[in-house]
Amino acid sequence: MGHFLAFAALLLLLFPVLLVDSRLDPSLRLPSAREVERINGDEDDDVGTRWAVLIAGSSGYGNYRHQADVCHAYQTLKKGGLKDENIIVFMYDDIAYNEENPRPGVIINHPQGGDVYAGVPKDYVGEDVTVNNFFAVLLGNKTALTGGSGKVVDSGPNDHIFIFYSDHGGPGVLGMPTYPYLYANDLIAVLKQKHASGTYKSMVFYLEACESGSIFEGLLPKDINVYATTAANALESSWGTYCPGQFPSPPPEYDTCLGDLYSVAWMEDSDVHNLQTETLNQQYQLVKARTAVRGSFSFGSHVMQYGDLDLSTEQLFFFIGTNPANDNNTFTIDNSLPSFSMAVNQRDADLVYFWHKFRSSPEGSSKKLEAQKQLFEVMSHRLHVDNSIELIGKLLFGAEEGPKVLTAVRPVGLPLVDDWDCLKSMVRTIETYCGSLAQYGMKHMRSLANICNAGVRKESMAEVSSQACMRIPSNPWSSLQRGFSA
Ligand SMILES: *[C@@H]1O[C@H](CO)[C@@H](O)[C@H](O)[C@H]1NC(C)=O
Ligand SMILES: *[C@@H]1O[C@H](CO)[C@@H](O)[C@H](O)[C@H]1NC(C)=O
Repeated sequence: MGHFLAFAALLLLLFPVLLVDSRLDPSLRLPSAREVERINGDEDDDVGTRWAVLIAGSSGYGNYRHQADVCHAYQTLKKGGLKDENIIVFMYDDIAYNEENPRPGVIINHPQGGDVYAGVPKDYVGEDVTVNNFFAVLLGNKTALTGGSGKVVDSGPNDHIFIFYSDHGGPGVLGMPTYPYLYANDLIAVLKQKHASGTYKSMVFYLEACESGSIFEGLLPKDINVYATTAANALESSWGTYCPGQFPSPPPEYDTCLGDLYSVAWMEDSDVHNLQTETLNQQYQLVKARTAVRGSFSFGSHVMQYGDLDLSTEQLFFFIGTNPANDNNTFTIDNSLPSFSMAVNQRDADLVYFWHKFRSSPEGSSKKLEAQKQLFEVMSHRLHVDNSIELIGKLLFGAEEGPKVLTAVRPVGLPLVDDWDCLKSMVRTIETYCGSLAQYGMKHMRSLANICNAGVRKESMAEVSSQACMRIPSNPWSSLQRGFSA
């Protein structure tokens, strides 16, 4: 068990305890100075219809938090007054009734929080959570759908659209439970197409994923009425929160993180304010502060904004409505929510989950053995992917230049790669010889992009990949049974 002692030490290094700096003081919620007219009644004149698309891009109990985020978002929008016919939900739906869920049929997104699962529409679940269906839904194209409820964003020129996506990601890419993954250039093309069809007034995109800034940086035009904020910049991880061993931690029976830092920050803010008085920019500032990197044991990320920044002066109300119960809770900057004391890097959250599952299960139980196997598999997959990429870089560019080329970062404002087809073909090539990159391997997307930016041809990539990976290791990630991720 020497491995596990070493691993425990690693975890202690990863998750140091910091202090909680502030607590929510309800008295800071000042009554509004003037009564704001609720304009829900003339919705069609002022706001058009509010549409929302909510996407959890992962599956598996270890990724509990992404589906919890999305279910919570649904409840927030529903309380804000959006109608079910206008909220389209994508989630794998394997959490609520998962055998590991300590509260069957219930999903929570906060340690003391209530159920957020009840009532969530199951528009696109299981294998129907795909990039293709997401794009078809956004474009309102029913004939392009495969499976699902058939609900699409059937919007008109005065309508407002809100999109929230929570998952793992990597440079230029977002996860999906069913392959392929979502590539930034394809998303931007769909947003432009939606704009060209004249079927919305303005759109807001909130995105939680590692390196989520890279989805929009140098890519999202400023003139298509889309305003986006992301959990992280183009270079860094985003963070899970309410994780086991943290403060605040989930109830002891939970082995998994309950939410993500940026996601719970915007939702917990939206849940207490009168959103007729809070602007997108005010929320951006507040979420940025709550998600920020802090302390010497740095965790947290840089929340970013992209696209049409003029839109950020608009009230949140136009996109996600407002809960009438908060009518007297005017936005004030002092009105901040508690800071987080700790967080877990998205990419390490599955290690935390397997580790806690291992530690909390009885000695000699089958659950313990299973958790041990999962922990070893996930760690050996990581090593395999990291080593393969490093070796490919050295074979392509030499032992000294290789690591430099792979880790090079383009200047701010430039997209990750110029030729996205090249990037996708590099992904397929490496997956052919080395096995699936999978959730963890998305972190290497910048290296593959840099291989394209350096002008390497697909044939050379195939040759060195076959040299670097003599065989595809057998583990749940490395088989190609799910197809290519690109
Ligand atoms: C809708 O999708 C179908 C199938 O992909 C495609 O042939 C058609 O052109 C699309 N319609 C529009 C209006 O984009
Ligand atoms: C807001 O304040 C007004 C005036 O004090 C009061 O009549 C109203 O019930 C309050 N609304 C809510 C939702 O608390």
